[in-house]
Amino acid sequence: AAYETGDHASFMRKEMLEQPEAAQRVLRGRLDERFGTAHLGGLNLDARETRAIKRVKILGCGSAYYVGQMGAALIEELARIPADAEAASEFRYRNPIIEPDTLYVAVSQSGETIDTLLAVQEVRRKGGRVVGLVNVVGSAIARECDGGIYLHAGPEVAVASTKALTTMFLGFALLALQLGRVRDLSIADGRRLIAGLERLPAQIQEILDREDEIAELAGRLADAESLFFVGRVRGFPVAREGAQKFKEISYRHAEAYQTSELKHGPLALISPDVPTVAIVPADELADRNVGALHEIAARRGPLVVVTHDGVDLGEVAAARIVVPRNERELDPVLMTIPLQLLAYHAALRLGHDIDKPRNLAKSVTVE
Ligand code: AGP
Repeated sequence: AAYETGDHASFMRKEMLEQPEAAQRVLRGRLDERFGTAHLGGLNLDARETRAIKRVKILGCGSAYYVGQMGAALIEELARIPADAEAASEFRYRNPIIEPDTLYVAVSQSGETIDTLLAVQEVRRKGGRVVGLVNVVGSAIARECDGGIYLHAGPEVAVASTKALTTMFLGFALLALQLGRVRDLSIADGRRLIAGLERLPAQIQEILDREDEIAELAGRLADAESLFFVGRVRGFPVAREGAQKFKEISYRHAEAYQTSELKHGPLALISPDVPTVAIVPADELADRNVGALHEIAARRGPLVVVTHDGVDLGEVAAARIVVPRNERELDPVLMTIPLQLLAYHAALRLGHDIDKPRNLAKSVTVE
């Protein structure tokens, strides 16, 4: 049957609302509660090979790159393997050193993004091992990798990616669990994470159910010519993804910044005309983040804060979007959901074509 929007106004909205099911699908059959681990047979890595991995390098473009940054943090935190993400579009141009004990991970919804495909080929040409986190079955990147897992997000039509990104994050969580449990991750921590992953689909639904409240805030942001998205450590890739989504469909200038770096430059731009969307989870950095919010508020910058219950914003005048709490390692995926809704409702209010924004293609298949 043709893939249609059904009763939804756009594919993007349909795909956002499908996220709880997509999250269930990517996890299904892959969690092992008994041993607190994940089973990703398709990686074609045995325990001995897994223990030999010294580094993880994640390659993707655009939003897949930003989720790759979230994934690198998960792998470092859970598996304690040095990990980072790089834009696949840049990778091959700097003659990268390909190491035999590095695990390369290509991440792509379409599996057809030319820059990611060429990065995979560069790694393999030089003898490196690449696994894929890919949505489209049988796609070029999936075929080119040494192994990998499919994301099972289902077809994604809207140019602005939503449910595929959520499944990418969960794919990285599974990978981090599997890598972690043959190294230092305890069975108790593995089980804690699994319990957290199992709570996620319902928590995503809780956020989606508050669409009206988030739409109202989006209305306030839509008129700004320029805005900041800020976060730090785990929250920074969330801010990057939030700004990306906002730019793609609202055509507003949205700049992502590390909250900690604001005072080293961009604070000069904060004014009543330049709103900031801040990611402030209830983690070890909450107080420092709130300190930065005071700096923004002192310059009368409008604030929307994506946060958890229990974070005390003090005197700061800010609109709050409170998301449910889970294990802190999993905060990024929940904090991204309201940012999708903010971008969507800002674009809707501005009357833009939601599914086919100007100048952009769903997958970039030519160099
Ligand atoms: C996401 O909203 C973008 N349209 C874009 O950045 C996208 O994530 C990127 O082009 C990578 O696409 P892929 O996942 O199909 O490789």
